[in-house]
Amino acid sequence: MTTDQQIKERLAAAGLTLDRFKSPETVTTTAPPKPPAFEQTQVATSTTGLGIPAKKPFIISNSDKELLEVVDRMSSNGLNTNVLVTGPQGIGKSELAVQFAASRGRPLATLEIGNLAEASQIFGRMDLKDGATTYIPGLFTEAITTPGAVVHLQEINRPENDKALNAIFSVLDDTYRSIWIEELQKAVAVAPGVTFFASLNEGFQFIGTLPLDEALRNRFHIKMDLAPLPFSQEKLVLIMRTGLSDTQASVLMDLASRLRGNTQEPLYLSTRDLVNMGLLVRNGLSSTLAVKAVVGTGADKLESVLLSEHLAGRGNQQTDDEYGLL
Ligand SMILES: Nc1ncnc2c1ncn2[C@@H]1O[C@H](COP(=O)(O)OP(=O)(O)OP(=O)(O)O)[C@@H](O)[C@H]1O
Ligand SMILES: [Mg+2]
Repeated sequence: MTTDQQIKERLAAAGLTLDRFKSPETVTTTAPPKPPAFEQTQVATSTTGLGIPAKKPFIISNSDKELLEVVDRMSSNGLNTNVLVTGPQGIGKSELAVQFAASRGRPLATLEIGNLAEASQIFGRMDLKDGATTYIPGLFTEAITTPGAVVHLQEINRPENDKALNAIFSVLDDTYRSIWIEELQKAVAVAPGVTFFASLNEGFQFIGTLPLDEALRNRFHIKMDLAPLPFSQEKLVLIMRTGLSDTQASVLMDLASRLRGNTQEPLYLSTRDLVNMGLLVRNGLSSTLAVKAVVGTGADKLESVLLSEHLAGRGNQQTDDEYGLL
């Protein structure tokens, strides 16, 4: 059992609070309670999309945390580091880059590589400003020239545009660390301390993705392969991210375990799925309806799975004390 006191202490240590702890008496049975403040917090971005993200509770293994501390130190020493984050869908790959930036107060730019058909996002464009033709940098160029910025290349194996990918390549390469801007007729260098994160879903089930080019993979100094969180840590994420009570979270975790461990037809449920279910429950939906809504499978099939009381474990060998808040 995770006590509120334990959760409170872990949140306080990470400089966070949970709405539930601020005003527990406002939770009534008639009106659905308000979701916690931090799930509603908007990412603070400039007009271009470069900004310091809001800090949220993020659970990570101690070894990955140690690695990130070194990446941060390297950045403080002016070095540029490339981190490749892989792992199954919905288990925190993108959030890791966001929370790395948030916890260090560093500006973040996220680029959806699959959406880079419009090369101006990378290279910028010439535009009329105060009667003169001026170069307006793209988000990518602005981010890489901001000292200490974190650049997240989302789904780097969905390349739509060769020109864009070549530009990314030259920026990630320690020999060049620069980008050629046609409009300026010059190469723009990567600023000191900029850290690159690339996240990636690999495998046949991800339509439209390509196996990551070996030369590109080789340019990532650090590879982090994220595994699904152990049961108790995922439950903590559920509580901290949605504000559910321990009992409510237990009910959802139990349903999720049964679906995941079903011997006939195991169902893949990510941490994202659980958080989404938790938000529905927090806003007044019953646990079973929340599971059905998020899974989206035919109700009959789900019912039969839920009815077969097979309570299998997650098969994950990680133990509690190997994880903590970022
Ligand atoms: N370790 C974690 N700590 C806290 N929250 C988490 C964690 N892992 C996942 N989450 C929750 O799951 C959501 C989805 O995570 P994220 O978008 O990072 O997944 P992803 O691995 O990048 O998925 P995809 O492969 O689909 O891109 C987050 O917004 C957060 O609510
Ligand atoms: Mg992602």
